[in-house]
Amino acid sequence: MSDNNEPIAKVTLGTGGPLVGVQGLGCMGMSEFYGPTDEAAARAALDAALDLGVTLLDTADVYGMGANEEFIAPFVREHRDEITLATKFGIARKADDTRYRGVRNDPEYIRHAVDGSLRRLGVDVIDLYYMHRRDPAVPLAESVGAMAELARAGKVRHLGLSEVTGAELREAHAVHPIAAVQSEWSLFSRDVEISLTGAAAELGVALVPYSPLGRGFLTGSFQDASQLSADDFRQYQPRFSGENAKRNLDLLEPLRRVAEAHGATPAQIALAWVQQRAQVHGLTVVPIPGTRKAERLRENTAATRIVLDEAELGRLEPLAGQVAGDRYPDMSSTSAARE
Ligand SMILES: NC(=O)c1ccc[n+]([C@@H]2O[C@H](COP(=O)([O-])OP(=O)(O)OC[C@H]3O[C@@H](n4cnc5c(N)ncnc54)[C@H](OP(=O)(O)O)[C@@H]3O)[C@@H](O)[C@H]2O)c1
Repeated sequence: MSDNNEPIAKVTLGTGGPLVGVQGLGCMGMSEFYGPTDEAAARAALDAALDLGVTLLDTADVYGMGANEEFIAPFVREHRDEITLATKFGIARKADDTRYRGVRNDPEYIRHAVDGSLRRLGVDVIDLYYMHRRDPAVPLAESVGAMAELARAGKVRHLGLSEVTGAELREAHAVHPIAAVQSEWSLFSRDVEISLTGAAAELGVALVPYSPLGRGFLTGSFQDASQLSADDFRQYQPRFSGENAKRNLDLLEPLRRVAEAHGATPAQIALAWVQQRAQVHGLTVVPIPGTRKAERLRENTAATRIVLDEAELGRLEPLAGQVAGDRYPDMSSTSAARE
């Protein structure tokens, strides 16, 4: 295995986009979703990220209802010029109902949301501002038009979308250049390959795969949601419980065998797979695995130097098609529902 302390390579995030490390860092779990966090350890993970050339930091206004933006804010301010800061708007929540999720894309909401993010992050400008979910009731041109106004006003530098189809990306890109689309993409979740990858490659838009480790399941760090804390978001995801989890666990065997052959971990092979799969589509890709631990960050960045051969890729190819259970309890606001 290669040196885990070696800095990663750099890549341009979409035509005209910022130069970033080829792997980013998902900060979501530092404040919510995956059980209790040790804040000092999470801060150490942020420091390790920068040392290793991981410069794209991913958050959203909805993570911890603002708490995640506030948590990373001191780090962001200390290293403002070294990092590319990405946040998102569009998922509305209610303080008294933690499982409620609404989608808001109207211009008034967007103008209000950006000011909230800028305030919590303590910065003058957001480098990459994503629409987190699409509300089909609002014309895309209206929402992207409002985002473009924010760019003209200097509040955001680049625009992004999350969970959109190829057709939606084309429509949005015609209104204002889109630097990146962030969508779930992993050995277990490949619906982006229906139409999004083709459109992104054609338009020069980068893909930022979220949950590239299958929310941790691909790493083997948990086998079933019953091993997780009661408030862990994965309790509600159909593929991690009961019979589905049992069946999905069996699918990890080929991943383990490939990992052994490389003297690597399953997490590293899962990350190497996303990078190589992007090459097949002719895409720039910057996966954003989430971790709150510096040691895991070193493990994950070392994966950028692993190359899988054709036989190994062939062994991993059938997995996604065999996964039992959807990636969300309610798939209605995902791009898959609109394909
Ligand atoms: N756009 C969207 O709708 C959307 C949705 C979900 C997530 N995201 C973004 O994408 C980021 C990444 O996705 P994710 O966090 O959901 O899933 P992920 O990256 O697939 O997996 C994260 C989980 O894996 C564990 N992990 C990380 N590296 C590991 C390793 N080397 N060995 C063992 N376990 C490891 C983490 O635990 P520890 O933290 O304890 O290491 C965490 O529980 C998020 O942080 C968020 O910024 C976006």
